[in-house]
Amino acid sequence: MARTLNPEALLPLLRTLSDGAWHSGERLAADAGITRAALSKRVHRLLDLGLEIETQPGRGCRLVQALDLLEPDLIRGHLPAAWQDHLGLQVLCSTDSTNARLVEADIAADPQALLAEHQTRGRGRQGRAWHSPFGANLYLSLAWTFPQWPPQLTALSLAAGVVVAEALDALELPAVHLKWPNDLWHKDAKLGGILIEQRGEAGGACRVVLGLGLNVSMQAATDAQISQVWTSLAEAVAGRPPSRNLLAAQVLGRWCDLLQRFSHEGFGPFVAGWRARDLTRNRAVRIEQDATEIHGIARGVDDDGALLLDVDGERRRILSGDLRLRLTP
Ligand code: BTN
Repeated sequence: MARTLNPEALLPLLRTLSDGAWHSGERLAADAGITRAALSKRVHRLLDLGLEIETQPGRGCRLVQALDLLEPDLIRGHLPAAWQDHLGLQVLCSTDSTNARLVEADIAADPQALLAEHQTRGRGRQGRAWHSPFGANLYLSLAWTFPQWPPQLTALSLAAGVVVAEALDALELPAVHLKWPNDLWHKDAKLGGILIEQRGEAGGACRVVLGLGLNVSMQAATDAQISQVWTSLAEAVAGRPPSRNLLAAQVLGRWCDLLQRFSHEGFGPFVAGWRARDLTRNRAVRIEQDATEIHGIARGVDDDGALLLDVDGERRRILSGDLRLRLTP
């Protein structure tokens, strides 16, 4: 019976091909110590993952677009010194969902980060899929265990968004806005989103997995229906996007600092940062939850991260949950 090739076995070949130059099949097979037939199988597996590869008799093959692959050593090297030896870090070629993998990972290895070049079942909020084409974006998760339940845990995803926006500022990228509860927007389109999954017992330890999907150089989504208007960092900078390795290190270092601080101080130190980037403040919005819609004017967030919404002259407090916020035209 034919065995399915583990995608991780493709990484050495991908590293060679990542320069976008031509590589002869003979050389590639010899370097990997495999037969030409086995090489052809690996190339087909890369095509299955959505990579565009050109082959020509006599020249071999090449990636149609050069790739800036994620490299754990580079990411670690750019982490703040305090986390370099204390954060577990792994990069996968392909997985179902980095959040799903960390939810199931051994808690004893926390804090641990997982990144992937490609996700087959990337998860978004409210059970939606997160389109995760190969090598184009950042798909990153961080698992963290709080020994005690932290204050204002429901606001953690808001604080996580503030810190991602600060990471982009530190790399001198265009300023982004935050759309409650945890979207990153640039101009009028979604640039990224955060999904937090949590497990814990009242009065005991609490484990969170923070997941970030950030569009870096994604082109028009051909095989997926993305249900909202989206943009990418490449579009935001109108040119060459920043290195994903640098971005990953910036976000992970800041997320670790945030989680350490949040465990004692909750959302307090991050509220002002959130308010300064609030996309919907004083704008007409609607909240969709199941079959219900509430229309109102957004008035920012309170100190616990709840959305304040004026509905027919009455102020309501909306807690993040299984709901969606949309700007109304
Ligand atoms: C949203 O719906 O806006 C949140 C999207 C979060 C996507 C990221 S990609 C890395 C991590 N792994 C997942 O399966 N989801 C999150």
